[in-house]
This record gives sequence, C-alpha cells and structure tokens, in this order.
Amino acid sequence: MRFRPLRTASAPGIEALAVSEIPERMRAVVFDAPGAPDVLHEATAPVPSPVLSEVLVRVVAAGINPIDAKTRQGAGVSGAISSYPAIPGFDFSGVVVHSPYESHPFAPGTPVFGMASFPRSGGTYAEYVAVPSLSLARKPASLSHVEAAGVPLAALTAWGLIVETAHAHEGQRILIHAGSGGVGHFAVQFAAYFGAHVTATGSARNASWMRELGASVVIDHTTTRFDEVVNDVDVVIDLVGADTGTRSLRVIRPGGLYILVPTGSWPDYATAASAAGIRATSYKVVPDGGALATIARLLDSGAVQVYVDRVFDLSDAAEAHAVLEEGHTRGKIVLRVSDD
Ligand SMILES: NC(=O)c1ccc[n+]([C@@H]2O[C@H](COP(=O)([O-])OP(=O)(O)OC[C@H]3O[C@@H](n4cnc5c(N)ncnc54)[C@H](OP(=O)(O)O)[C@@H]3O)[C@@H](O)[C@H]2O)c1
Repeated sequence: MRFRPLRTASAPGIEALAVSEIPERMRAVVFDAPGAPDVLHEATAPVPSPVLSEVLVRVVAAGINPIDAKTRQGAGVSGAISSYPAIPGFDFSGVVVHSPYESHPFAPGTPVFGMASFPRSGGTYAEYVAVPSLSLARKPASLSHVEAAGVPLAALTAWGLIVETAHAHEGQRILIHAGSGGVGHFAVQFAAYFGAHVTATGSARNASWMRELGASVVIDHTTTRFDEVVNDVDVVIDLVGADTGTRSLRVIRPGGLYILVPTGSWPDYATAASAAGIRATSYKVVPDGGALATIARLLDSGAVQVYVDRVFDLSDAAEAHAVLEEGHTRGKIVLRVSDD
C-alpha cells in the first residue's frame, strides 16, 4: 500500500484533503493487441498517478460505448494507443480519492462522473482513473453510479448535436436515426426538452418507449423506409450512416442540416449534401465538465433519464462488448467495477 500525503488546509472554508489509502496496483481489463471481444482479459495494472490538475477517481462503474469496441478492433481511436496492454473505456462514475489542491471543487470523497481523456488514453475499465478536472462533474445525486456511468460520452454527444450544433428550438423538425441507442435516447429527450418536433427511427419493440422519451413520431426501420413517410425536416441526426445518410438527404428541406455522427461511415456526405442544397457536418464529441454539470441537473430534475439496458461485472467485459456489437442496445451497457 502507498499512502498519498495528507495535506490539511488551514484557511477557513477550505476543505482538508482526506487521507486516501491508494494501492500501487489495481484490477483492470486490458487488451494486448487489437481483435475480437475475447482479447479483453483481466489483469493488474499500476494505479495511474495524477499529474498537476488531474483528479484521481476510484471507479465504481464504467459505461461502454461503440468507440470502445471500434478501438479494441484496431479502428476508433486505436491510433492514440502508445503501448499495449491498453485499458479501454472513457465513461466512468466513481469517487474522488485525490484532488489537485486543497480548495478544488472535487475534494476527496466527492461522487463524480465523466469522460476520461477522450480521445487519448481512456482507461476506465479499471479500479482507478486519472482525469483532467475539466472532464468531470458531480454525479447526479438521484442516480446510482451504474446509472451515472451510462451518461457521459453518449449524453455529451447528444448535447453537442442537439443543443450546440442543431440549436434545437420550438417548432423545429428533427429526425433522429437510432433514437433507441445510447446517444439516440438522450438526443430524443434533449430535442423534445427544447421544444423540437421529434421523429425517431428504431424498431417496434422500442417504439412506445421512444414516445415516452419525447418522440412525436416513431418509424420502425425494420419495416418502413423513413424516406417514404417523412419529408421537409429541418435537421437529421444520423447515428447510423451510409445508406441512411443518402436517403436522409431526400427528407431534409432545402437549406436544412444533415449531421453525420459515426466517424468515417460515409466519406462522401459533404459532396452529396452540397449537391442536394443541404448543409452538412460531421461531429466529434469532447469531454466537457460544464455541459455534464448541466446534464446532471436535467437528470436530477427528472426532465431527462438514462436507460441502462444491461449491467456486466468488469470481468465480463468481453461478453459486454459482444452484446454491444450486436447493435441492438436499448440505451446503455455498463460495467460494474467495484462496490460503492
Ligand atoms: N462522432 C462522435 O463523437 C460519436 C460519439 C458517440 C457515438 N458515435 C457513433 O454513433 C453511433 C451510435 O452510437 P450509440 O452509442 O448510440 O450506439 P448504440 O447504443 O450501440 O446504438 C444501438 C441502437 O441503434 C439502433 N439501430 C441500429 N441500426 C439502426 C437503423 N438502421 N435504424 C434505426 N436504428 C438503428 C438499434 O435499434 P434496433 O435494436 O431497433 O435495431 C439500437 O437501439 C456509433 O457508430 C458510435 O460510434 C460517434
């Protein structure tokens, strides 16, 4: 065991840093080379050492995202992996065990959630993660760590798409492809919250749920071609790509906006959109503790919910990836890493 130094603040109103007993090594899931889900295996790894303004968090739960699986396969952000074995994962919820300075807003013992170092190192499939202070926020009090771990990357993506890029507002008509997935279920809720008229695609088993989240119209993508029943929308949020993209251009009003989310899934989107008289952009999520704090308030108020589809133990990360890769997750899949 290694004991990090105890520093006690003397100024009034400044909380003392708690004594944290932090081990040298931790339990983690790693992969030694790109491959199928079964390259993921348990190992021990050094507990990361926070640098300067970083916060060290004891991870209680880690959310899984498609980028984790793409990276494990050798795509995604695998180019940013400097050496193997690598610990996957960007989403976490847990408890601060080391803060950068005495009056830091995230003092030891604070429940927090966030996105670890995206798109660089990640590493949340582990008992501890070191993260920049700007990448996290206080965990919503009404959510368990398992629920909170399902929020950061997907909700920040949805926020970036719906609020910062589409500027959702009253009366705006937004079509969201894959409204039932991790990003989609937040996108539907944010768009409806800001007054947009939401049409979502997904399969029949998720239709009534997507309506509860705020979709006015739901189209079963397994039975109905959306471009035969939708027209004149202002914005398409495309969480699928390729074929869905080309057909989306037919349902957007002239001058409307097409947003392609799965990176690289449709290389020619900009040319095709321009030829159709439609604005187009791709999008890439960034860790943003400020936006996450706003999202936390929406979650605590009950205006927005996170849906956790499946929970796996950390040791079952390979099975969790295999399920994710089937592509039918409703909401989120989360790994339980340790006890609260
Ligand atoms: N660029 C970025 O910054 C960024 C950030 C986050 C995510 N992404 C990407 O965005 C994509 C979506 O991410 P996610 O986390 O939301 O994925 P996800 O949770 O795995 O999405 C699964 C959902 O997609 C639905 N779906 C699959 N094919 C569909 C189709 N053709 N039409 C309608 N719904 C369909 C499934 O519904 P059914 O079971 O009914 O088929 C399922 O509910 C991924 O490619 C991810 O890598 C990019």
